[in-house]
Amino acid sequence: MQKSKTTVISAAENERQARFMDTAAAQSAAFSAENGRPPRAFVRTFGCQMNEHDSEKISGMLSCMGYSFCDSFEDADLVVLNTCCVRENAEEKVFGHLGALKALKRARPGLITVVCGCMTEQPHVVDDIKSKYRNVDLVFGTHNLHRFPELLAGVLSEGKRVYEISRTGNEVAEGVPLLREGRIHAWVTIMYGCDNYCTYCIVPYVRGRERSRRPDDIIAEIRQLDDEGFSEITLLGQNVNSYGKDLEGSPDFASLLTRICSETKIRRIRFMTSHPKDLSPRLIDVMASNPKICSQLHLPVQSGSTRLLKRMNRKYTREDYLATIKLVKEKMPGIALSTDIIVGFPGETEEDFEDTLTLLEEVRCDQAFTFIYSPRTGTPAAAYDGRVPDDVIKNRFERLLAVQNRISREINDTFLGRTVNVLCEGPSKTDPSKFTGRTEGNKIVNFTCADNPCGKFVDVEITGIQTWSLEGRA
Ligand code: SAH
Ligand code: SF4
Ligand code: F3S
Repeated sequence: MQKSKTTVISAAENERQARFMDTAAAQSAAFSAENGRPPRAFVRTFGCQMNEHDSEKISGMLSCMGYSFCDSFEDADLVVLNTCCVRENAEEKVFGHLGALKALKRARPGLITVVCGCMTEQPHVVDDIKSKYRNVDLVFGTHNLHRFPELLAGVLSEGKRVYEISRTGNEVAEGVPLLREGRIHAWVTIMYGCDNYCTYCIVPYVRGRERSRRPDDIIAEIRQLDDEGFSEITLLGQNVNSYGKDLEGSPDFASLLTRICSETKIRRIRFMTSHPKDLSPRLIDVMASNPKICSQLHLPVQSGSTRLLKRMNRKYTREDYLATIKLVKEKMPGIALSTDIIVGFPGETEEDFEDTLTLLEEVRCDQAFTFIYSPRTGTPAAAYDGRVPDDVIKNRFERLLAVQNRISREINDTFLGRTVNVLCEGPSKTDPSKFTGRTEGNKIVNFTCADNPCGKFVDVEITGIQTWSLEGRA
């Protein structure tokens, strides 16, 4: 049997980090005694669900270190920017905040600024921060997250500026403290990194090789979520379909899902992201036969043109994608679908773009996330010729949105008068007299209800349709 390529960071290392957290907690207690309140941290997250979940780990460690939390830079004693670099505008936002924090640090020299996440795995960004943002105290990459307590100790105890971007290769950390956002839905990482190297994408360079968590560790985490009363989980990985290839015995994603369904009590299971090239018929069968697995699938297509898909290194054709969707719909009629699309990839012709439009018409996704291509330093596509002019991109982007908005609206309209089961997440943010929750298909429903349905599953009759949500009464 193949030996596991991925290893788990040792318990001794976890204990070392725990000791750094204890020291920091004592420092926080001294701060409290002096100031009449604990030190406050503000964790600002950019990017995807993976980063959201990493921030829950950062907050978990900060909580163990005696920090309380606030939601503005002005109120904070320590600021963490957990960054994303998937597109240029994500990076620009972070540099904007770093500039503003410079002024804040001048006024309050005690303010500690931490920058971590995907952006800091790029050497040119670290060079920029080193030379232009001397207000930043600590920079660490995605591979060093579990060592945050030790790295912060370098700043707190020794007053150093710390940069730690080393890559660890094939390791995963278990048992990092977590402070989860909410008590109803939880993120559960099943794998880290990506080996796919789509030619436009920076993620494999900043998140490293594919590394899976052991099935037993994942099941143990979900059982704990059961005990804590969570109802819904989303399993996270850049490409969940290649789960387990690096582990002893190569347990695959379909068998992991089957185990989660039978060995835990969690009521609703979602996962993201699936890569179309290896969404297996077996996985589709497992989805179709387990009512706990939501009838919902996010399957990024990126383009409807086989020629462009090849240039993107996606390893499937338009026809492959359509055949997969056909099978999914046969096995799970009414399944809610979503996708990602890139507009303006180098060399995209009008014909390629029209292939994307016709694919959307054929697939009829509930939702499509549309992105304008952004060249990323170090990726192959950044050096491709055939840059699409801005005005052409803008025109295509608008046409794409018009098509998808119509389809989304048409699908939403079919819900009018139907009764759907909603997991209530709490009061509605836009209208405090209402509650909000999601359907199995991940549609947001704002609804009225006589009693307090928070955290419960409720049947809601749909009485109104908005572009991005449904309205109803319990
Ligand atoms: N692993 C996931 C998602 C990764 S990033 C997957 O494979 O689908 C999320 C989305 O960002 C991608 O699906 C893609 O549509 C988009 N994206 C990635 N790199 C991009 C770039 N350089 N420019 C524009 N969009 C990009
Ligand atoms: Fe990026 Fe492709 Fe990996 Fe997704 S599968 S993270 S798009 S390289
Ligand atoms: Fe996610 Fe952005 Fe990193 S999309 S993986 S936070 S580059």
